[in-house]
Amino acid sequence: MCDVVKLEREDDIAIITINNPPVNALSGRVRRELKDAFLAFQKDKKLLAAVLHGEHSAFSAGVDIHEFCKPTDAPSLPELLAIIDDIEKPVVAAIEGNALGGGLELALTCHYRIAHSHAQLGCPEVKLGILPGAGGTQRLPRLIGAEAALNMITSAQFSSAREGGLSGLIDRVVDENLLDNAKEYARHLLRTHSPIRRLSERKVNTAVLNKDFFEDYRDKLAAAAPGFNAPLAAVNAVEAATKGKFAKGISFERSLFNECLQSDQSRAQRYVFFAQRRAPRVDLLAAETTPITVHTVGVVGAGKMGQGITTSCLLAGYPVTLVDLNQHALDTARAAIEQSLTSLLRRHKLTHKQRDAAFARLSTSQQLSHVSGTDLVIEAIQEDRDAKRRLFTELLNLLSSNAVIATNTSTLDINALAEGLKSPGQLVGMHFFSPAHLMQLVEVVQGDATRPAAVATAMAMARSLKKVAVLSGGSDSLIGNRMLSVYSREADALLLEGAGVVQTDDAMRRFGMAMGPFQMADLIGLEAGYHARKSRQQRGADNLPVTSPVADKLVEAERVGQGTEAGYYRYEQSCRAPIPDPAVDKIIDTTAADLSISRVPIDDDTIVRRLTLRLINEACKIIDEGIVQRPSDIDVIWVNGYGFPIFRGGPLCYADSLGLDNVVAELNALEKSSGPRWKPSAYLIQAMAARMPLASYDTLSAGERTGKRRA
Ligand code: 3HC
Repeated sequence: MCDVVKLEREDDIAIITINNPPVNALSGRVRRELKDAFLAFQKDKKLLAAVLHGEHSAFSAGVDIHEFCKPTDAPSLPELLAIIDDIEKPVVAAIEGNALGGGLELALTCHYRIAHSHAQLGCPEVKLGILPGAGGTQRLPRLIGAEAALNMITSAQFSSAREGGLSGLIDRVVDENLLDNAKEYARHLLRTHSPIRRLSERKVNTAVLNKDFFEDYRDKLAAAAPGFNAPLAAVNAVEAATKGKFAKGISFERSLFNECLQSDQSRAQRYVFFAQRRAPRVDLLAAETTPITVHTVGVVGAGKMGQGITTSCLLAGYPVTLVDLNQHALDTARAAIEQSLTSLLRRHKLTHKQRDAAFARLSTSQQLSHVSGTDLVIEAIQEDRDAKRRLFTELLNLLSSNAVIATNTSTLDINALAEGLKSPGQLVGMHFFSPAHLMQLVEVVQGDATRPAAVATAMAMARSLKKVAVLSGGSDSLIGNRMLSVYSREADALLLEGAGVVQTDDAMRRFGMAMGPFQMADLIGLEAGYHARKSRQQRGADNLPVTSPVADKLVEAERVGQGTEAGYYRYEQSCRAPIPDPAVDKIIDTTAADLSISRVPIDDDTIVRRLTLRLINEACKIIDEGIVQRPSDIDVIWVNGYGFPIFRGGPLCYADSLGLDNVVAELNALEKSSGPRWKPSAYLIQAMAARMPLASYDTLSAGERTGKRRA
């Protein structure tokens, strides 16, 4: 086994290298070998300074997250950093690539820091439900001030080495030859007899903080990210850094860190971290399957979805031809795309040059033939089966036999869309979420005939658009919207039985959902769901036991959501703030009376329980039917596409935290009192009996995916 840490000598300089691909995570072994290397450096009288750096163009992405589920191997990161802190010879961190979490804490403990201008620095711990636990909350405010440190820790955003240079985080920023420059910097420190600079010996500058600073910061966080515990714990730790001695602050930070690490929130967030990285892997594709290389993209349909998809592709560097029969729609789309790019510029996510270059990659046309040379065409026209099929027929006559056609349908079965096409293997689904340039999720849909290369292309494309891609088998409503459908129907049922619109939305937001079900319905628009329900009913395909009579009545009263300034709420002049509307209460009352339902008060806990149980049970049915590759993909979809709280990990992870015995008992009781829609799915019963968690990354076997489980 080769070493993960190397100590080399160059005259009087020690070069200590971390080599633990892919991201130089600080595993137990790396920490042990770093300790040995630093102790050897300390002992060797011929060595006068050390440079610490990482292989693989990375400094370190922090502690190995896999190791959080077992007891910590010695030395812990704080123990290792205490050794480095005490060294009496200068230690220089040479940062290339990422210095994140524990990686940044390691760099902060070194006495000096030099970085490549492209290096990225950050404290992403709160995304894992923890806070920096190796001195980050104590050293960072001593270096850059309490407010800047808190902004960095609680936002979890990365900053560049250039920004780090400006804030004092980095001493020298270079554009090339980092290691040579770092050695030269170490020699310069020796020549100039520079002191050993230990952040642990500094004090936080409290003169710039007003007296309510920490209280105000906590209030701001609680309003911006309600329900999350780790960011608030980080504020407490940074506050401690302003009050007492370093050692006391470190031990307080460690106790908060351990508390967060053991919490359900952190367990859930760490599960989502790995689930998201697992989701894009299509395990059943043969190893030799390769995606086609996409040089240019066509998008057909210049509505909202088409605009968002086009913007996403432009931002990723693709030249895009946007086609629509209607010139006015194209003009509107051009203006909207330009506005989206400019808004990214205003938020400092793009430079002027990047904005202009992205917009210059856009061309628009009324002629479908203008996409003939493209490698990938994404269809984003209206949800009309026949119109889509006509378009695919035309596209297949225009495009090369290697090209891929991706449909953005969210409600139509890809197998029905592909039926009878001359080359159905070229058709794959890419279901984007609105607004497509901002939402992270893409459901890639593999129909029965879809070629493996088309699936691989859609997955690779989603990755290059910086999206989280999840594979779905072909079915009506895919995975996310199928669950949304039962969730929305249950929310409607709650209204008829006595819950209020605002009450339901508030209860679900308190649970942690980004939005309540009715706010979300108004945002998405009620029309697509209405047409999908009607079409299923006409085809006799609607076997869902609860329909959505209130939603139907709203659409029939031309209240289709924010677009018409009326839905479950009313809206004023394109303002998105929902205003409760007594007219809706009236519609609910009359609909309930028509159906002979007497409305009675329903408490918030019941609302949350019923809505989440429906999601959990439907997710298990989807697993049962083999539509999903692996259970964790469902959680990835609900966290990224529907605002399910990441600190609960998604519906399946949440079910595990409730205990599957309890979930099944509740479903059984509801089935008894309210009918068969609550019948626990076979998969759920099976998992409970086997004491097997629902939230699993294991890929379902080929047999399970082809419906054996159903038999
Ligand atoms: N520990 C273990 N594995 C890690 C890791 C870590 N800290 N960071 C990344 N990885 C793994 C990923 O799981 C993935 O493995 P896989 O190929 O088997 O799926 C592989 O490294 C590559 O990661 P990505 O696919 O995410 O690659 P990207 O290039 O897109 O992103 C990254 C790289 C920006 C480093 C991103 O992986 C990331 O943000 N990592 C998490 C960093 C983090 O949260 N660090 C803090 C850890 S907690 C800590 O340090 C506590 C301390 O305060 C005490």
